[in-house]
Amino acid sequence: MEYILAPSILAADFRNLGQEMKKTEENGAQYLHFDVMDGMFVPSISFGMPVLASIHDVTDQVMDAHLMVQDPIRYIEAFQKAGADMITVHLEACEDVYAALGKIRESGLKAGLSICPETEADAVRPYLKDVDMILVMCVHPGFGGQKFIPESLDKIRKIREMIQEEGLTVDIQVDGGIYLSNVREVLDAGANVIVAGSAVFNGDPGENTKNFMEILRTYE
Ligand code: DX5
Ligand code: ZN
Repeated sequence: MEYILAPSILAADFRNLGQEMKKTEENGAQYLHFDVMDGMFVPSISFGMPVLASIHDVTDQVMDAHLMVQDPIRYIEAFQKAGADMITVHLEACEDVYAALGKIRESGLKAGLSICPETEADAVRPYLKDVDMILVMCVHPGFGGQKFIPESLDKIRKIREMIQEEGLTVDIQVDGGIYLSNVREVLDAGANVIVAGSAVFNGDPGENTKNFMEILRTYE
């Protein structure tokens, strides 16, 4: 299994976005995580396709779009055109989860399915064969800088078990409240793709990335 760091640019200094994300790339972060918020599925509004498109040309990092958007199927084509390599939709936001995942894969992209803290692990079981990644939200989606919800650990364990039972290769991404101090707990529970916003971009993004990568390498 590959262990991956996905810095969330939501916490970056947007005046220097280019330089900040480069520092994460130079220090080994394989993905770049885009938190897209529509003001409907979540209370806040962040950014959309133009930001992703402007970054996509200047990095080799995997463009990981996390759509916190109601009816995300409406935007899959637009994010594919903007340069997304993978698109994650929320189970709670889709009218037809299979249709959304199918559309992502038909566009040639990797498909992720995310669940909010109040959604049970069992809810993802029917879709495991149709996804590349399950995203377990460890905070209520909508804002960066929140506190990790400890019950997420059990959910990660359960989903990793389900994936193993079914003999599948599916990544588990975790998002929200992850710091150097608790990253080992989510890795030990079975996560392998780590989203970190505040923990990477508050302070020196290069140094912070390096510290995360040192821990991730001990799991390979
Ligand atoms: C929350 C977002 C997260 C968030 C993570 O809605 O999906 O990606 O930016 O931020 P931190 O790491 O600061 O909790
Ligand atoms: Zn996210």
